[in-house]
Amino acid sequence: MTKRIAVYPGSFDPVTFGHLDIIKRASEMVDELIVAVLVNKAKTPLFSADERVKMLRTVTKDIGNVRVESFSGLSVDFARKEGAEFLVRGLRAITDFEYELQMAQTNRIMAPDVDTIFLTTNLKFAYLSSTTVREVASYGGDISRFVPPEIAKAVEEKYRQQQSRQKQE
Ligand code: PNS
Repeated sequence: MTKRIAVYPGSFDPVTFGHLDIIKRASEMVDELIVAVLVNKAKTPLFSADERVKMLRTVTKDIGNVRVESFSGLSVDFARKEGAEFLVRGLRAITDFEYELQMAQTNRIMAPDVDTIFLTTNLKFAYLSSTTVREVASYGGDISRFVPPEIAKAVEEKYRQQQSRQKQE
């Protein structure tokens, strides 16, 4: 029997409890879930792709069929290279829908052999995004309800480093 593989692409800058919820649920639906961190040259992320991969590996280490990789280029090309049939995306609210629908339809035109599966985010995390986590942390707010402890530590450390660098300049 062929292995069912799905790719969950994203920025994960940083990974949140919302992403983790999607990862856990998606991993139960397939034989292997590849969490794919986009190396996006257009954006300046808080964490490098390597850092994001490392953080994701730490928080998914107990889920046996999850692999974390980075990729650049199109998600569908990465999915095909990995032999994946599915892309997984989380939907939090109607505001996500238009962009996600457009992306899924474009991906489907480019790669009819790769289907997008949408999982609705657990209501507990429907408000949550990496952007708001970064915003709260950048002002010294507590992010422990949004991300796992190892990630909170890494984010806080990153802003501490940035602030001490700014002071020196
Ligand atoms: O976590 P994000 O930033 O919402 O993830 C967006 C992501 C990485 C899934 C999307 O930007 C993406 O797939 N980028 C790679 C280029 C691509 O395949 N674009 C889709 C065609 S419209």
